[in-house]
Parts: sequence; structure tokens; C-alpha cells
Amino acid sequence: MMPTVVEVQELTKRYGSFTAVDRVSFEVGRGEIFGYLGANGAGKSTTIKMLCGLAAPTSGRASVAGADIAREPERVKRSIGYMSQRFSLYLDLTVEENLRFFAGAYGLGGARRDRRVQAALELAGLTDRRGTLTSALPGGVRQRLALGSALLHEPPIVFLDEPTAGVDPEARRGFWRVIRDLASQGTTVFVTTHHLDEAEHCGRVGLMVDGKLVALDTPGGLKATHVPGALYAVELADSRKMRHELANWPGVVEVEPFGPRLHVRVQGELEDDGRLEHELKHHGHNDAVVSRVEPTLEDVFLALVGTGRQSKGAA
Ligand SMILES: Nc1ncnc2c1ncn2[C@@H]1O[C@H](COP(=O)(O)OP(=O)(O)OP(=O)(O)O)[C@@H](O)[C@H]1O
Ligand SMILES: [Mg+2]
Repeated sequence: MMPTVVEVQELTKRYGSFTAVDRVSFEVGRGEIFGYLGANGAGKSTTIKMLCGLAAPTSGRASVAGADIAREPERVKRSIGYMSQRFSLYLDLTVEENLRFFAGAYGLGGARRDRRVQAALELAGLTDRRGTLTSALPGGVRQRLALGSALLHEPPIVFLDEPTAGVDPEARRGFWRVIRDLASQGTTVFVTTHHLDEAEHCGRVGLMVDGKLVALDTPGGLKATHVPGALYAVELADSRKMRHELANWPGVVEVEPFGPRLHVRVQGELEDDGRLEHELKHHGHNDAVVSRVEPTLEDVFLALVGTGRQSKGAA
């Protein structure tokens, strides 16, 4: 096991009688990309604020990069990089001016400052745009710059709270390339996102529901545990009617409409290649086209949180 960078035990945050984070425990290792998922209000930002030394826990304990968050919050703040959900760069400064400003705020000076600003420009892929006004950068590129500035003081861990919210898919891919590079060089990345496709890039994923950590595993492990069996996409002429009929077949665990097709999850003999198609044809559905699909974290989320909860929030 890699050395532990974050250790959290029964961490709890209450606001009055409301519990925003409820006895959460986990560890994060060096160089790990740890994804922290959950609906609006699930307690993600509150956890991050505690781990960054910005909010005191009500109970429980945690250490980050060797510092205790309750007893040594100042040491925690110096040891981490943090990109808040509402992080804003100075839009009227150029890329390089922003980096120099934040380097100064971190207490970097002289040759180290120059070296770190250069490194941040390279990390963000902005060496050629160092003189560009930040306001002229597209959202995704701005987020890479924000990430670069959160890393100027070379922290062993960086907390990114929804760094890709409102960023287009192409720019999101670029942002995640940077995250993977960072982690491969040994920086620990703690990241929240509402984009479940992004969570596939994480080494492990924790899922928060109403302040509680309800699942924690690798993306593959979460799928195996929470979406067991085999998943098939089924194309049929009368899929509406078949949705209900199929749901009653022995071995069929779940049937969900998925665009014009049905996603059918099966367990037991129906998992075998070709078996479901054979059975459908045997029942007179000669037009049935069946193909195996890999479950996604979306399926895991639905299995754990329930249909519609993700968009409705954690009410
Ligand atoms: N300072 C505060 N005082 C009172 N309640 C708060 C405070 N900060 C957060 N909360 C509440 O705690 C809960 C968790 O909020 P938090 O911001 O951690 O959620 P989140 O998972 O980050 O959600 P989102 O995805 O919307 O960013 C919410 O119900 C929120 O309203
Ligand atoms: Mg949040």
C-alpha cells in the first residue's frame, strides 16, 4: 500500500441540528486520484473545507500530509493546494501576472518563484499564452490555470472542488490529462465532480449521500458490487411492452429504457453470451438485437441513490 496522505476517522460537521458530514472515514494514498461524488448538498465541499483546515470539525479527526486538521489548521493550509468551487483568478491580469501574484501569496520569491511560475505554465499548457489576459481564456483553460496556481508551492496533495463544472467536454478531457500527469508524478489529487464519466479516471471513488459515505471502491469494484451480473442493450420493435414482460423473466434483475433500447441486467444463466438473444428469439422476438454493454458509474449511482435523485438533489 502506498503511504497515506489523508487519514479521516469518523469526521463529522454539524450546523445546528443539521448534520452536513456524518461520521465519514477513509484514507487516501500518495499519488492516488480520489474521486468524491454525491448529489448537491451531499457534503462534499464541507468535507473538503474541513480537510483544508478552513472549517473545524464538530467531531472525529483527520490528518492531511501529516498535520492534524483540528490542532494544526495553519500547517494543513500550507501543505495543501486547494481549488474551491468558486475559485476566481484575476480576470484583468494576464496568465503570468496571475501566477506571479499567487506565488507571492504563497510566500515564494526570487529564483524559486520564477521556476515555479514556469512550471505552472508548463503544467497548464499555457507557456505560449503567458501574456494573454485571463478574461480572454475559455473556461476550461482558465481552470487549468487555476490548477497551476493551486500547485505553485508544490503541495503533496491538491483538493479540487468541481474543477470542471461548466467546462465543455473537450476542455474537460484536457483538464483530466493534467490531473493524470500530476498523479503519475506523485501528487495526490482529491477531486469532486458531477460528471460521472470523469470519475472513471479515479483510482477510487467515494460516494456521499446525505452526509454519509455510502460506498468506497475502485470504479470496477463499485460496478461489480452494486451492478452485479451482466448488462445487455436490447433493441426490439415493441420495447415498451417488452419492458414489463422482461422484468418478470427469471434471471432478469432490472430493465431500464435507454434511448430507443432497453438496458437489461441479468444474473445466472442469462449472463452467458448469446443466451438472452436466444431466449428472446425463442419467445418470438426475431427482430431482437442484443449486445453486451459495460456498466458505468451512472448505473452504480442509480443503484445506490435511486432514480432521479441525482438531478433533484439530496432532499
Ligand atoms: N455554513 C453553513 N451553514 C449551514 N449549512 C451549511 C453550511 N455549509 C453547508 N451547509 C449545508 O450542508 C450541506 C452540505 O453542503 P455542501 O456544500 O458540503 O454540499 P456539496 O456536496 O458540496 O454540494 P454541491 O454539489 O451542491 O456543491 C448542504 O445542505 C448545505 O446547505
Ligand atoms: Mg460543493
